[in-house]
This record gives sequence, structure tokens and C-alpha cells, in this order.
Amino acid sequence: MRVGILGSGLMGGKLGTVLARAGHEVIFSYARSKEKLKRIARAAGPNARAGTPAEAARDADALVLAVRWLQVADVLHQAGDLSGKVVLSCALPMNADDTELVVGHTSSGLEELAKIVPKAHIAAAFNSVPSEVLFSVYQARRRANRPSLVYCGDDRRAKVLATTLIRDAGFDLVDAGPARIARTIEPFALLVAQLAYEGKGGPKLAYRWLRFGR
Ligand SMILES: NC(=O)c1ccc[n+]([C@@H]2O[C@H](COP(=O)([O-])OP(=O)(O)OC[C@H]3O[C@@H](n4cnc5c(N)ncnc54)[C@H](OP(=O)(O)O)[C@@H]3O)[C@@H](O)[C@H]2O)c1
Repeated sequence: MRVGILGSGLMGGKLGTVLARAGHEVIFSYARSKEKLKRIARAAGPNARAGTPAEAARDADALVLAVRWLQVADVLHQAGDLSGKVVLSCALPMNADDTELVVGHTSSGLEELAKIVPKAHIAAAFNSVPSEVLFSVYQARRRANRPSLVYCGDDRRAKVLATTLIRDAGFDLVDAGPARIARTIEPFALLVAQLAYEGKGGPKLAYRWLRFGR
């Protein structure tokens, strides 16, 4: 697939690298320096290149939205018209200092995103996993015991593309259901992040927890 990465930080940079190594054509976009985008693309290998959000969106089969919540409007504006495009969102609707969800209980980041780009095909994927485990999960992808990754959404086409990318990244699939389930997954993802970044176990703890879930 042609995959456009909107937001090439911790999550977008690593996920795009894994997907490029898995054989997808990846365009990294949206960082504060073009040099950084080029550096990530070089490190990701021959299937990857750097571009603008509009270039990433133009021919993409799937876009990965991997920016902080406050940057969502800006990156979508730069990407242009996303009618008919598949957008897989890693974004958690967090406040500026990443301490609280700013959408919750009666809605979710995914449902709010669907209102912003109503003509795009949207699903949530990769938002419940710490980016730090992506490389090791990919390296271990041929093992029988792969960690599971939840995804959700109301759009069938977006979910079908999500399943391909999730499998290619080395995870087994857990279809958590419709978009409203994101109201549960987003706080769950915050818990995983707390375990990964603030708990004593670091990313390994969250990884073991995913395996335990099997
Ligand atoms: N990191 C994780 O493990 C993780 C796990 C689950 C979900 N998520 C979600 O994934 C999303 C991305 O998280 P992240 O940790 O990858 O964040 P991040 O490392 O801060 O990446 C955000 C990207 O946006 C770019 N950016 C920010 N402001 C910009 C601007 N004004 N102009 C151009 N580029 C700009 C950053 O550029 P620079 O590279 O130049 O800083 C960076 O590449 C968030 O919604 C988060 O909740 C992340």
C-alpha cells in the first residue's frame, strides 16, 4: 500500500519505518524540520521518502494520523481534501501537557475526528501501544505468540486496511467494535502510556501486559 504518515514523531516515525520495512511505500510528513523527515525516511529504507502532508495524502491508500491532538486541525488543513481517503488515527485526544484526555465519556477522539473529516474513511489503530515496542514487535513478527492490538471504527473500508497494516506491523488483531468503543479504548491507552512512561517497568511492562491479555 501507499501509506502517508501525518506526523513523524515518536509514533509516526517508528510506525512508518516498520511499515516501509514490511514493504509498503511510505511518505513521512509533518515534522518541524525537513531534514528530520529526510533522515527518518533514509533510515526506513528504499520504500520511504519525505514529503509534505499534501504529498503524503495525494496518492495514499491509507493515511496514518500521528500528531498530538492540538496539531490535528493544522496537519489536516495542510493535507488538504481527504474525501474518500482512509485515515487511521493513532491520536489520543490529550491536553497540551499530555496529562488528561480532553474528550471522553460521551464521545471520543475518533468520533470527534469523524466530524472534522466527515467524507474520509476513519478508524482508530495503533493508539493503544507505546511506540517504543513497535520495532521489537515487528522483529518478532514470525513468532507464533504475537501481541494483540485493538482497533475500532464504523467504517468497513478503513477497518479492512487497518487489519493489513496491523498484521504487517507484527500484531494479531482484536476488532473492538464500532467507533463509540473508542470511548473505552482511549482511556485504556492512557493507562498503557502511564505504565510505559511513568510506571517502573517502562515499555516492557506494557508489552508484557499485551501478551498477558492473550
Ligand atoms: N508516542 C507513543 O507511544 C504514542 C502511543 C499511543 C498514541 N500516541 C498518539 O500519537 C500521536 C503522536 O504522538 P507522538 O508521541 O508521536 O508525538 P510527537 O513525538 O510529538 O510527534 C508529533 C509530530 O508532529 C510534529 N509537529 C508538531 N508540531 C508541529 C508543527 N507546528 N509543524 C510541523 N510539525 C509539527 C512533530 O515534529 P518534530 O518531530 O519536529 O517534533 C512530530 O513529528 C498523539 O496523538 C499521541 O497521543 C502516541
